[in-house]
Amino acid sequence: MTEAILLVGGKGTRLRPLTVNTPKPMVPAAGVPFLTHQLARAKAAGVDHIVLATSYLAEVFEPYFGDGSGLGLHLEYVTEVEPLGTGGAIRNVASRLHSAPDEPVLIFNGDILTGLDIGALVHEHETTGADVSLHLSRVEDPRAYGLVPTDSTGRVTAFLEKPQTPEEIVTDQINAGAYVFRRSVIDTIPTGRPVSVERETFPDLLASGAHLQGMVDSTYWLDLGTPQAFVRGSADLVMGRAPSPAVPGRRGDRLVLPTARVAPDAKLTEGTVVSEGARIGEGARISGSAILPDAVIEPGAVITDSLVGTGARVGARTTLKGAVIGDGADVGADNELQSGVRVWCNATLPPASIRFSSDQ
Ligand code: GTP
Repeated sequence: MTEAILLVGGKGTRLRPLTVNTPKPMVPAAGVPFLTHQLARAKAAGVDHIVLATSYLAEVFEPYFGDGSGLGLHLEYVTEVEPLGTGGAIRNVASRLHSAPDEPVLIFNGDILTGLDIGALVHEHETTGADVSLHLSRVEDPRAYGLVPTDSTGRVTAFLEKPQTPEEIVTDQINAGAYVFRRSVIDTIPTGRPVSVERETFPDLLASGAHLQGMVDSTYWLDLGTPQAFVRGSADLVMGRAPSPAVPGRRGDRLVLPTARVAPDAKLTEGTVVSEGARIGEGARISGSAILPDAVIEPGAVITDSLVGTGARVGARTTLKGAVIGDGADVGADNELQSGVRVWCNATLPPASIRFSSDQ
């Protein structure tokens, strides 16, 4: 059995307004808080003890997941008074770990949806004798990520954060946000101040001659840090493109949770999820979208690749495309919202007030 640390304390600024009332790992994806999928996947890989490193909106995790026994896990929570960054958060929970100094400890970012073979990463770590092993993914445009070039044996040769010029883009391998640390390496991270594992700990370890091993695993991988990515991840879970043992229903074109009410002639496609207590009116067409609990979609609305927050209302015939509607917002009838627009929590848009096309 292995133990793990989950980093769930970030502010999730790129995901606002979804993260105004809810920390990013607790925003529902395919009907359950996103973190549920990660916990269930860790459990399936043989992890039994997980420490959640919390900070932003820390108080909401424990009431929902409790001691973890519902998932067959032993969960603990450690809250930072001031955010300590990714490395500081790891160091801050060290006293809760049970592993011996040479044993492996898994560490996961709390916003990654992936089919990573967790067992294979631990195996790679143990067979290579590395100090730290990292899951690497390959992406077409690596500019938003940390690049991790490796030599022919998979040993990491550099860490390059958010490269911009063609000369800086020396590889398509990026830090995919899952690590195995030798337990004793965690104790070398400084205490009592913010530390970034990506910008400080990894480069320092490399400079001091430590063995950092990269394992490229090119299965499903998505960073759910932006609204567009979050909506896509939720739809991929519903359709079974992204693996999770925690989707509350059968994989398919749609997922309708118990207590949601959907008009018989409404069309739900492309991995749309309708959460508890939500209502979908006659003739509405919803594709690739997430409708969160108690939201109301009125008749004839057309919603594509969008997220409608808890208790929000979308008026009749309104169309949404790549839009995020914050919790409790009220979008009147006959609006047309597109292109990454973010309607803030509890905002009110009068009927027919925004269009991207002529009204003829
Ligand atoms: P943005 O503000 O949108 O960049 O999101 P974020 O705050 O989640 O930051 P980022 O995506 O870089 O964080 C990667 C992972 O580390 C996420 O799972 C965060 O929850 C977590 N994280 C980031 N900073 C901290 C921190 O100070 N403390 C803890 N405990 N976790 C953190």
